[in-house]
Amino acid sequence: MSIAHGIRTLGVLGAGQMGTGIALVSALRAKVPVLLYDQSQDQVKKGLAFAEKLLEKDVSKGRIKSEEAKEARERITPVDPSLGLKGFRDANMVIEAVSENLSLKQTIFSTLAAELSPDAILASNTSSISITKIAASAIPKGASAASEEGKASAGRVVGLHFFNPVPVMKLVELISALQTTKDTLDRARSFAVACGKEVTTSNDVPGFVSNALLMPFINEAIMCLEKGTATRDDIDTTLKLGMNHPMGPLQLADFIGLDTCLAIQKTLYEGTSDSKYRPSILLERMVDAGWYGKKSGKGFYDYQ
Ligand code: CAA
Repeated sequence: MSIAHGIRTLGVLGAGQMGTGIALVSALRAKVPVLLYDQSQDQVKKGLAFAEKLLEKDVSKGRIKSEEAKEARERITPVDPSLGLKGFRDANMVIEAVSENLSLKQTIFSTLAAELSPDAILASNTSSISITKIAASAIPKGASAASEEGKASAGRVVGLHFFNPVPVMKLVELISALQTTKDTLDRARSFAVACGKEVTTSNDVPGFVSNALLMPFINEAIMCLEKGTATRDDIDTTLKLGMNHPMGPLQLADFIGLDTCLAIQKTLYEGTSDSKYRPSILLERMVDAGWYGKKSGKGFYDYQ
């Protein structure tokens, strides 16, 4: 099959809400075989069950034929857990969607660079961490960043930032590291388009365009609540009905995950040293309490 992105097999690392969504749109829309890996087998099971539910709903609503759902289902294969990242060896693109932790991502990209073929694209779904820093870890041991081998290896790293819920949100933000080659960017863009997404590009700045704008907005809403300016419901209703936002900022923060919001805000604050990005104390305390939003059953709202 001759396709612009040239992706024959995709690896998706992380079977949380983002990884599962990416696996699903890749199998259903881009029609590529997907290897799905998560260190938690329970998470893989949950992810596959959720993807199955979404496929069934698409069929029942007449959006896809049952044959298309069957084909998409069959394209997603869980990686044998004993193989770990070695299970991605046959993939010529991997999208990493693990939690927002730079050192974890650096370890992963260093391993992927060693395990995968030199022309495989290594993409991160990070929502704020520097792609340039991640790319710098994807250099084979013994090679320098300035060597041809080092430049080629780091040059295949790119940011491919999907939005939650992935099957519904139409955007992918494409982020170029300093090292990313034009060929990598072109192939990653073509792949996102094949997944049915519109693509915008952003330079590698903390939070990129999306979260450099969204997170201060969410943080201001949390500060309004902290200061007692208005109640939770009045803050959210103001934005929902006054500005036609599908969710108010506090509900959206719960939906994204308060731990994720805090991690992104810290990246913005530390990466810019600009006080306007300082996370609110209330957000810090809620994360301290283990109130991570929808996924943990409690955030600004209760989800029991
Ligand atoms: N996965 C897949 N599909 C989902 C879903 C999920 N987690 N949640 C909702 N949907 C689907 C529903 O199944 C429904 O589909 P149908 O039309 O087939 O029934 C559709 O979305 C609409 O859902 P609902 O009718 O239940 O509810 P809604 O109209 O309130 O829409 C919403 C839900 C789409 C999530 C909407 O509230 C929304 O757009 N919210 C804002 C989401 C947003 O801003 N996302 C970006 C977050 S930022 C991010 O992801 C990146 C980052 O870096 C932090």
